[in-house]
Amino acid sequence: MCGIVAALAARNVQGILLEGLKRLEYRGYDSAGMAVLDAGGHLHRQRALGKVAALEEKLERAPLNGRIGIAHTRWATHGKPSEANAHPHLAAGRLAIVHNGIIENFEPLKRELEVEGVMFESETDTEVVAHLVARAFERRHDLLAAVQQTLARIDGAYALAVMHADAPREIVGARKGSPLVVGVGIDEHFLASDPLALLQVTDRFVYLREGDVVRLSDGGGIEVFDAEQRPVTRPLQVFEHGDGAASRGDYRHFMLKEIHEQPAVIAATLEGRLSGSHVLESSFGVDAGALFADVRQIHIVACGTSYHAGMVARYWLEKLAGIPTQVEVASEYRYRDVVVPQDTLFVTLSQSGETADTLAALRYAATLGYLGSLAICNVPGSSLTRESDLSLMTQAGPEIGVASTKAFTTQLVSLLLLTLALRRERGDAREAALVQALRGLPAVLERALEMDSPIAELSEAFAEKHHALFLGRGTQFPIALEGALKLKEISYIHAEAYPAGELKHGPLALVDADMPVVAVAPNDELLEKLKSNLQEVRARGGELFVFADEGVALAATDNLRVLHVPRVDECLAPIVYTVPLQLLSYHVAVLKGTDVDQPRNLAKSVTVE
Ligand code: AGP
Repeated sequence: MCGIVAALAARNVQGILLEGLKRLEYRGYDSAGMAVLDAGGHLHRQRALGKVAALEEKLERAPLNGRIGIAHTRWATHGKPSEANAHPHLAAGRLAIVHNGIIENFEPLKRELEVEGVMFESETDTEVVAHLVARAFERRHDLLAAVQQTLARIDGAYALAVMHADAPREIVGARKGSPLVVGVGIDEHFLASDPLALLQVTDRFVYLREGDVVRLSDGGGIEVFDAEQRPVTRPLQVFEHGDGAASRGDYRHFMLKEIHEQPAVIAATLEGRLSGSHVLESSFGVDAGALFADVRQIHIVACGTSYHAGMVARYWLEKLAGIPTQVEVASEYRYRDVVVPQDTLFVTLSQSGETADTLAALRYAATLGYLGSLAICNVPGSSLTRESDLSLMTQAGPEIGVASTKAFTTQLVSLLLLTLALRRERGDAREAALVQALRGLPAVLERALEMDSPIAELSEAFAEKHHALFLGRGTQFPIALEGALKLKEISYIHAEAYPAGELKHGPLALVDADMPVVAVAPNDELLEKLKSNLQEVRARGGELFVFADEGVALAATDNLRVLHVPRVDECLAPIVYTVPLQLLSYHVAVLKGTDVDQPRNLAKSVTVE
């Protein structure tokens, strides 16, 4: 989704803003722009359709120079991707605004402004806000008050940054429904949608809360006001992951780097959460023990890859903890009449903690009488964690590739910790065995990553295909779904996943020599049944690629290739089997030459509905 960067500094800000935009590219966008106020009090703007590199070229030809500026990457919602619709938007040539989100009541507001004679230059909802703030500013010459007055009139979700040529040493920012952080420098301050955008200038951040408005002013002033316009203090937090988190290092793509980080980030996710041979339930919060004792049912709600993690957890929670569990995508959950049995725990899963549907589901759930809510999330201070009763942070670190990889496997590890913490038979041999297996998981994943070369070779069989089928049973069915999602997201090959037992109920009709079929086949209680399903594929001339445990006896033939995956406790197998499927989609995408880290039409964090 859109990205915002703003800077109020003691030096020219063009370079800071441009670097910030480059670091926000991962969020997904279709155009970019920047506005800077020069020393003479004049606003200058450059915008470009397409990549930040196109904006950079324009800036090389006609640089902007000034100590205050705002910049933006746009992901189109209202109005097509075009230079005219790209931000910043101006009002009367004196005010500039950048905005992330959707103004739901922009149409009546636009009609009202048009009646008053305002001419619009774009099709965006944002331009309406620009004119409203400019008009409010004309009356009082107070930018903060003008923004607050305008926000009271608009419905919807936003993060925004505004500057005005007649308030030349101020930037005002606001957030409601979309993230915005203040980067705290020495005598210079910044705003951004994500701390990663500002790591080149600071590692200290103030995370704004829902409804907050902030005024940055000359000499380092930061004033935050809450939704009721009361001055408030928000804590200063130091970003702990270092600037390396925003760079690819020696890897060709962020996605590959993030796949290879999985052993380390899983070790980090386990750190401090295991004691001897059991899981520390206090990892979920000081009140977790009391709340967990009362849990009789669980509802898990999430989107995309995070939803797949929830689907795996359902098998674990019902098998290991005996707790009835439902899993649902947030965009469905939030709009239906949900019946909540007594003593049900509501669990959300999200990498970003800002996904609009998941947040809306949490807010809806808060009205339904759940026992409590737990967020499993990767971004500290995100809306989801702040609005949940309990939270467990995955320690994946910043995930830049749009295709989620390490966020997924750290979610799975966190969900297994939750499962063990919820078991009634705490401290038994099964818990001890799983805790031991979890401790050994990073080493097993290192071995799974050694499959990289054979998988790169295998990927050639997919590069020219238009469709692919993924099969799994039990906990491997959601892993098949995740494998198919990864392949379609980054290689644009149409991929479907089915529980293998469903094959003969329809999808078998699709199987022929042009349809590669990927099966995930660990040595579990369902293996023999899966083998029968594979025979059904072979009998129809289908080309099979089977990921199987080292010990599984499956002879390779002309149309059956077997890749051996390191063996682990069957509960941990979904985590390990995820890795080769990630590598497969990565290598297919590289062969096809697609934009691996920023696939077309997709955004990293889906902050609008
Ligand atoms: C997965 O590769 C995608 N990036 C997408 O499905 C993602 O998992 C989904 O949008 C949910 O995001 P969240 O985990 O940040 O809530």
